[in-house]
Amino acid sequence: MTSDTTTEGQVPDAAGAGNLIYRARHVPRFVRSNGSHLVAADGRRYLDAEAANGTVALGYDATILADALAHCQDMPALPSFCESELRLDLIGRLERLFSDVTGQPGRIELDLGGAQGMETALRIAFSANGPGTVVVFEGAFHGRSGVTSMLSSSPRYRELLAAWGLEVVRLPTPDCGRCPHAVPQQAGCTPGCVASVTRWGSEMTGVGGAGFGRRVSAFVFEAVQNVGGMVEPDHALLRAAVDHARRNGAVVIADEIFSGMHRTGPRWGFERAGVTPDVVVASKALTNGAAALSAIWAREPLAAPSSYRPGSHSSTYIGIPHALGVARAVLDRWDKWTTAERDVGVLGDRLAQRLGQLRSAHSGLVRDHAVFGGAARLVLTGDHAAGLRHLCLTADPRIGLIVASTGMAPDVINIHPPLVVTDQDLDTMTEVLDRALHILARTAEET
Ligand SMILES: Cc1ncc(COP(=O)(O)O)c(C=O)c1O
Repeated sequence: MTSDTTTEGQVPDAAGAGNLIYRARHVPRFVRSNGSHLVAADGRRYLDAEAANGTVALGYDATILADALAHCQDMPALPSFCESELRLDLIGRLERLFSDVTGQPGRIELDLGGAQGMETALRIAFSANGPGTVVVFEGAFHGRSGVTSMLSSSPRYRELLAAWGLEVVRLPTPDCGRCPHAVPQQAGCTPGCVASVTRWGSEMTGVGGAGFGRRVSAFVFEAVQNVGGMVEPDHALLRAAVDHARRNGAVVIADEIFSGMHRTGPRWGFERAGVTPDVVVASKALTNGAAALSAIWAREPLAAPSSYRPGSHSSTYIGIPHALGVARAVLDRWDKWTTAERDVGVLGDRLAQRLGQLRSAHSGLVRDHAVFGGAARLVLTGDHAAGLRHLCLTADPRIGLIVASTGMAPDVINIHPPLVVTDQDLDTMTEVLDRALHILARTAEET
């Protein structure tokens, strides 16, 4: 399979009609899966080093659906206005996942997916503060719904659908590799960087803080930016940004849709920097990709009925039993994996070792790498990520490799395999990337 996009990035005749496949004419049609592997209809195997967009943290596991059905197949189809023991039990379990870590009791609202979950989080913040300004980092991604596309950085996400009334202020990128003020040879942020994320709220900045009628209602962050190109804000920078938001009365919202459930080591990514949010949104790894569900946790009393009025939010399909059954089956598995944080730390070391090898072997093409538990970035010397991602599918006759790249970070390959990926799979991943980088280097020489 060769790249069949034109030089302008247009796809002349894309395969099928779905959004998943708009970038190429020929795409694998997956029919089976197991562990970290997918099999296409033509029999070719693929190693999935992006865990189905970060969802299948526990690997492809057909027993999840079977277990889920065992708990819900005899239940009636319950839309949102009907209660069930299954839902109440799940909500209690979910609440503890958050309050055990934040040390504060809270309430849970369920929603249909990541973007909807983020909108619910904003509703909760606005119910406390009024619908004011929202502060995010450059490089943020919180979904592509009308409202969340206003928070997400790429203007592409806003071109066709947007909620224009929302005032969004972007703090400078937390990616030191892209920061115009980065000091050569110095890792991390400087006092100047910290100052630049803690200036809003003053008379000078045009953004209201404590003491202003129109002020910032919410500060929203990702512990590791996913679509922004696997960027972890410097811990001191994030702590300063959170403290400043609190001092100015903003509700602090952690988007853990990608980073939650041990993707970056601890259960929640925000634990890495030692910050405690007021509201947390989790999704992907709660159902291991098998149902569209998000959970929004808000510390008491933010979502109490006195301020967040009943009926402020609902959706017909929030409570459908099969999605709740999947979440229950997945939580059972997480409960059993008591060493997840330690094991993901070991995975991170193994990933770092292999990506370091690739960087040394391909220094003309790879200029940096970084690993955050089970998530990693390979930073290229140019905007080759989409080309390299495509080569990984085809470079090795034995097996294809699935990695991710995004329009917001065209020089970054995102790597986040299932957290249960084996050492042997990591070796395979390294071999395929090595081959693909060799081909990319040859192609670059020829052109
Ligand atoms: C950090 C983050 N926030 C929000 C979303 C949006 O989630 P969904 O696609 O379920 O709406 C994603 C999806 O990739 C994400 O990674």
